[in-house]
Amino acid sequence: MTTPHGSYKTQTFNLSGLRGISDKTLEMHFKLYDGYVKQTNLLNEQIAKILEDGKIDQEETPAYSELTRRLGFEYNGMVLHEHYFANLKKGADPEPGKSSSFRQVCEDSFGDFKTWKVDFVGVGKMRGVGWAIAYQDPRTRRVSNHWITLHEVGNVSGFRPLLVMDVWEHAYLLDYAPADRPKYIEAFFANVDWSTVDQRMVSGR
Ligand SMILES: [Fe+2]
Repeated sequence: MTTPHGSYKTQTFNLSGLRGISDKTLEMHFKLYDGYVKQTNLLNEQIAKILEDGKIDQEETPAYSELTRRLGFEYNGMVLHEHYFANLKKGADPEPGKSSSFRQVCEDSFGDFKTWKVDFVGVGKMRGVGWAIAYQDPRTRRVSNHWITLHEVGNVSGFRPLLVMDVWEHAYLLDYAPADRPKYIEAFFANVDWSTVDQRMVSGR
């Protein structure tokens, strides 16, 4: 079977040697991410197959509905992992520099950068599995931090993800005990690629 038009390819990320997030964790995490890419492609293929004859037959409706419902989970699982890996790097600075546009927008939105971080870390420590994401509203340029349950519940439509932190247990369980999520969050902040975060900002005022 040929690769269907528009199917997704698994991206590679060179993250070996991060502080406090082991290569073993990353290898396992890359495999999980690869699963989301494969499942996204598979769902699209299965939906395309149902649509092949140009209609959705009544007996196909339950399968079609279930496949479509899963798109939110698999698509978001794929893209959020890509954002997460891409906003990490080896040899990162602990905070964005004074000239960082992300830092400036955080100061505008929260009064100061420290308060933005208190809120983001607070979101990351919330019980349950999911994501802490700093989103930017493209209309007001304001930054707000959001809790995303699983991968698909809580994302704000049209908002730009600037900083994405995975807080599913698989993101840190090989390095820290389940109750030590705060230590993982500290490790995450030791590896943030702030220049990538700046590049994700909405341009213009
Ligand atoms: Fe993950």
